[in-house]
Amino acid sequence: MTESELTPATFSVDDKTLEFPRVKATEGNDGVAINTLLKDTGLVTLDTGFVNTASCESKITYIDGGEGILRYRGYPIEELANNSRFLEVAYLLIYGDLPDMETYAAVVRRIKRHRLLHEDFKAFFTAFPSNGHPMAILQAGISGLATYYQHTLDPKDKYQIELATVLLMAKVPTMISYISRRAQGLPLMYPDSSLQYIEDFIRMTFGMPYANHDVDPILTDALNKLLILHADHEQNCSTSTVRMVGSSEANIYASVAAGVGALSGPLHGGANEAVLRMLTEIQESDMSVQDFVTKVKNKEDGVRLMGFGHRVYKSYDPRASIAKQSAHDVLEKLGKSNEQLDIAMELEEIALQDDYFIERNLYPNVDFYTGLIYKAMGFPEEMFTPLFALGRLPGWIAQYREMIEDPATKIGRPRQVYTGATERHWIPRSER
Ligand code: ACO
Repeated sequence: MTESELTPATFSVDDKTLEFPRVKATEGNDGVAINTLLKDTGLVTLDTGFVNTASCESKITYIDGGEGILRYRGYPIEELANNSRFLEVAYLLIYGDLPDMETYAAVVRRIKRHRLLHEDFKAFFTAFPSNGHPMAILQAGISGLATYYQHTLDPKDKYQIELATVLLMAKVPTMISYISRRAQGLPLMYPDSSLQYIEDFIRMTFGMPYANHDVDPILTDALNKLLILHADHEQNCSTSTVRMVGSSEANIYASVAAGVGALSGPLHGGANEAVLRMLTEIQESDMSVQDFVTKVKNKEDGVRLMGFGHRVYKSYDPRASIAKQSAHDVLEKLGKSNEQLDIAMELEEIALQDDYFIERNLYPNVDFYTGLIYKAMGFPEEMFTPLFALGRLPGWIAQYREMIEDPATKIGRPRQVYTGATERHWIPRSER
């Protein structure tokens, strides 16, 4: 832990005054290391939802929620989204620097070599109902990789972690395309090593084995950008889950699979699917956009404006700005109907001028516009969150690796403030 020369933070409780070292951040909030609080006072901190608690030091991603800044390893998201390829950004997140030409070519080659899934996986997927949610099947599939690659499970072995990193990056797109194809009763497609990562993923998802499938570069570029936007977001719910599971020295597949489970929730990655359902509901009902916003403000049936609000961003999510522009570009280039985009923009316009949203600092988040792009590309709604998972994969891997390598890591084991019954004694059922 990098405890700083800064004045320690003091904390008074009863007749005691305690000093806790500050931990200096290179940017953003410094920390206060309170590890000795329990020992010194018998008190624990209570911070529901970890609103105020840093669980680790990290060098991967920086967010300034007030200014709407997001940087991976120091690089602004705008520069990366507009100029990079997804695998380049994955390398940056996992290894710390952008790859040079030679390194990038080697990474691409290595990932290409491992794109095939074990043939038995075809039977594995048939064990699930074909209409089961793809996130549930993806979680099981990633977890199942641990049974096929048992020589890559030791988190302390650098060689094994390196191979597991490549296997995950290589096989998860194939797995997602299999899940999508099977849901539609379509034949599964093998990877084609002559194609690039994203291009081949699109071909495996939308192509047919009896015909060439020329992938539209508009789709490749749009998906490349979206995957980069999702690639990491510091200690969000799914990433914290990956770290928590990994802190027990569980293998990387079990940890990433747990992250997929966390991501599936509608308050997290599942919001992209929920946004589309919300837009469709507004479109198909007699409700005006203003009526819907009023319903949200009145908290009727617990309705929220999906794709709005964020724990960290209290201004516009920079990823949402890029996704919004991309939604316009893609829909225009593909000549797709803009009706739902129009509803989304009206929702945004009304919400951003409304006191309810202003007072609570609620702005569009990354999920608000991405579903519209995926839909225009031809992905069914249930596939939106698996696409988010594909984008987040390098972030989860990078965070798992950083956690394992950090000598300060301990098994994640929060405390609680117990508010249940005090001791009572068993009585026979007939006397209760
Ligand atoms: N619509 C309406 N009201 C909202 C919304 C929303 N989308 N988000 C927050 N609020 C309100 C809450 O009702 C609460 O109001 P109150 O003070 O009157 O009780 C206030 O704003 C604070 O909300 P919290 O739930 O305490 O904020 P928190 O930081 O815990 O939640 C979250 C953040 C989960 C993202 C929330 O804004 C939300 O549910 N958004 C909709 C789902 C969504 O888009 N999730 C994707 C997030 S981005 C991502 O994971 C990739």
